[in-house]
Amino acid sequence: MASQMTTQQLIEMISDPAQFVSATFSGKRKGDTSTWKKAIVRPVELKGGYYLQFSWFDDKKNIVKNYRDAEQTAQLHALFALPFRHLHLLALTEEITVNLSNSQHVVVSRKALDAPVQPQLQHDRQKTSLLDDDRARPFLIGSGIMTQDGHIRADKKRKYQQISEFLRLLSETERLNRWEGECLRVVDFGCGSAQLTFGMYYYFQLIRQLPVEMVGVDLKAELMQKVNRTARDLGYSHLTFVSGRIDTYQQETAPHVVTALHACDTATDDAIVRAVRWGSAFVFVAPCCHHHLQAQLDQQPTPVVFKPIVRYGLFQERIGDMLTDSFRALILRIMGYQVDVVEFVAPDHTPKNVLIRAVRTQTEADLQALKEYQALLQFWLVKPYLHTQLADRLDPLLDAIME
Ligand SMILES: C[S@@+](CC[C@H](N)C(=O)[O-])C[C@H]1O[C@@H](n2cnc3c(N)ncnc32)[C@H](O)[C@@H]1O
Repeated sequence: MASQMTTQQLIEMISDPAQFVSATFSGKRKGDTSTWKKAIVRPVELKGGYYLQFSWFDDKKNIVKNYRDAEQTAQLHALFALPFRHLHLLALTEEITVNLSNSQHVVVSRKALDAPVQPQLQHDRQKTSLLDDDRARPFLIGSGIMTQDGHIRADKKRKYQQISEFLRLLSETERLNRWEGECLRVVDFGCGSAQLTFGMYYYFQLIRQLPVEMVGVDLKAELMQKVNRTARDLGYSHLTFVSGRIDTYQQETAPHVVTALHACDTATDDAIVRAVRWGSAFVFVAPCCHHHLQAQLDQQPTPVVFKPIVRYGLFQERIGDMLTDSFRALILRIMGYQVDVVEFVAPDHTPKNVLIRAVRTQTEADLQALKEYQALLQFWLVKPYLHTQLADRLDPLLDAIME
């Protein structure tokens, strides 16, 4: 039913925690030169209590801020002063569609809901995918995964799925989930075209609303220039890309999170080495090819019980992959990390579907892991590349248990 309301009445409705669910402003009025394409307001429960969260969107970026009390009212007045044409307001028991063409007395159409809806107050509420949120669109479009009209490009569906899965894994990492306060420093090694890096930035900065400093590192200088431009266009001001090698990369303050997703062969190990030496709290690596250990296995006589297995080239390769990753997991455990190995994406997406997730839980070496590591080394008579890079840490520990 069409009727009239004043903007003041609408502001009062939005400010009322007992009835407000969400408000979406969209559309342009004639002659509008504003850059904002859309704005969304919704309630969020933060540590300090009940806030309204404002998200403003333009073509490339979005800005999200939380307000309460007088600031909240001032922001609502400012929002109604913007030349949006439509407002969709959802309250607990009704839906209100507003034509904002006349900014004083607006025409509203009100419809009672069949059943009351509840606002979702968590600031990081989960949808089917963490990428369903409108705030993901600018980076998805900017990094070429989504078209301007919101469709995932056919050849990017797997990448989209991979980013979605990776963000889910981040969001399910308990200690990371509880992170608050200190600026979260993240380094993404072998970031390549940076779609996953942008995804992480979006997740930490826009969804979790954490202060972050992120760096992407890759050998490809031109690509790093390009993704730096994309980051600037997106307004991702705390994300920079540098060209360089993982094994020589340094930064002034150690990062808390180190990632290396499908970085080649021993680049994964180089990333683990950096994380261990920095004492980073979280390590996420999705290994790619595993040539280094394979070459040693080819040189060594195969332990006799494994002969029937390595007779088949495919199995031999898989054993090499599994051994490399088992050694990585063991070394991380020795270095005080709690480690789990999870499936990154369904195997039909890529055969490289393993992700090693490590969370640092202690500073002392894990003796049990050390013994297991030693036994595995002696059985296969190999030396993983990661061991050679961390020999100064590992060898004294191994010597000590031999005594
Ligand atoms: C397969 S791409 C993965 C890109 C991205 N992480 C992803 O998952 O979409 C691997 C990237 O690692 C980079 N890379 C490999 N070895 C490296 C090293 N030692 N130092 C820095 N970058 C490296 C390559 O240049 C390449 O861009």
